[in-house]
Amino acid sequence: MSNITVIGSQWGDEGKGKIVDWLARKADVVVRFQGGHNAGHTLVIGDQVYKLHLLPSGIVRPGKLSIIGNGVVVDPWALLKEIAGLREQGIEIIPANLLVSENAPMILPLHGEIDRALEEARGAQKIGTTGRGIGPAYEDKIGRRALRICDLAHPDTLRKKLENMMLYHNALLKGLGAKPVDIEACAKSLEEIAPQILPFAGSSWQALDKASSAKKKILFEGAQGIMLDIDHGTYPFVTSSNTVAAQAASGSGTGADHVGYVLGITKAYTTRVGSGPFPTELSDNIGETLGKRGHEFGTTTGRKRRCGWFDAVQVRQAVKTGGIHGIALTKLDVMDTLETIKICVAYECRGKRYDYLPAAADLQAEVKPVYETLPGWQSSLEGVRKFEELPENAVKYIRHLETLIGVPATVISTSPQRDDTIMLKELFQ
Ligand code: IMP
Repeated sequence: MSNITVIGSQWGDEGKGKIVDWLARKADVVVRFQGGHNAGHTLVIGDQVYKLHLLPSGIVRPGKLSIIGNGVVVDPWALLKEIAGLREQGIEIIPANLLVSENAPMILPLHGEIDRALEEARGAQKIGTTGRGIGPAYEDKIGRRALRICDLAHPDTLRKKLENMMLYHNALLKGLGAKPVDIEACAKSLEEIAPQILPFAGSSWQALDKASSAKKKILFEGAQGIMLDIDHGTYPFVTSSNTVAAQAASGSGTGADHVGYVLGITKAYTTRVGSGPFPTELSDNIGETLGKRGHEFGTTTGRKRRCGWFDAVQVRQAVKTGGIHGIALTKLDVMDTLETIKICVAYECRGKRYDYLPAAADLQAEVKPVYETLPGWQSSLEGVRKFEELPENAVKYIRHLETLIGVPATVISTSPQRDDTIMLKELFQ
């Protein structure tokens, strides 16, 4: 099997965009399979910076087919805006290089409004969502009321489905004393954009079947990270989709054995945006330094990311639940100036030692990290492209992480630039 699935092994923002773009040079097809425009993948190519949210990172490379799979929730207006922005940057986006799954559910303006209103109502308990309507759209999918991309081609069905969907939402809105959704206006605005979306609509399972039969190389691009997974993450402070590698199959319409090599993108320290437990969070100068040197601001919302030490307990768990075979270690250069570096190797809580993150939210909020300390390398790693050129202490740090998490580092990234990447194993066979 010559496919690769890339997923985030922490709380998202591990630097997946750069690695996917880099691997995409050898891929024929790049597929998004979950999430939506809550994701933010940054690609730096020469002096151009591309910020992608919904489009697969392969879109910037000519001659590749990018697929938005059925597991993604698609805001059609956000999609058109992103396509327009990239076209302005000189990227060609045509039906020959972009396919949007016809059975992907759509995010409507209503979903964003509900998302933001619920967050406000939660007050101190808020999840810190991106406010893009992701959760409410997935709720409608599971509730069997969602409008899907294929409905855009059938105005009568679209209207009927919209009426059915609003039976549910308007009852809720009425209960909250809010204005009901104007079904006619919503149907009209969808009909207006339908001719721009439909040329890209198609069957992702058929496209993938064809690609597999022709022995094409497929790269599955995950969004967010394992700790934001709806089942395996720090629930309820999670996103509303499965972010594990298994989702690559069901979220695009291919078999589980097509997932291939699973590469967990792993930051050399830890960050998180939004609320929720973060055992190794640093509220001191070191946290500030990591945030400043790592430019830790969300690509989608611009929010400041919380920063902390590497949590080997959390990543080891992500390796197991996510099905990770090896990691791509990113942003090692951000730690260049540190005299000493800590790694969390266990947790303590209520007199008990844990080698995993317990499931109960109360315990997750209370666990205290047990650290090991390693010497820093205090020299610049930025742009290093050969493993032999890494300083001894950086190599020691990498080797120790590998032992703690149980899988090897197969890729190391030393700057946001496309080619500042050390490949320790050829992943596409
Ligand atoms: P939602 O996905 O917008 O519902 O947000 C749920 C949680 O996931 C929040 O804590 C967000 O900050 C987080 N989140 C969603 N997308 C991303 C991402 O691409 N990177 C990092 N965190 C994310």
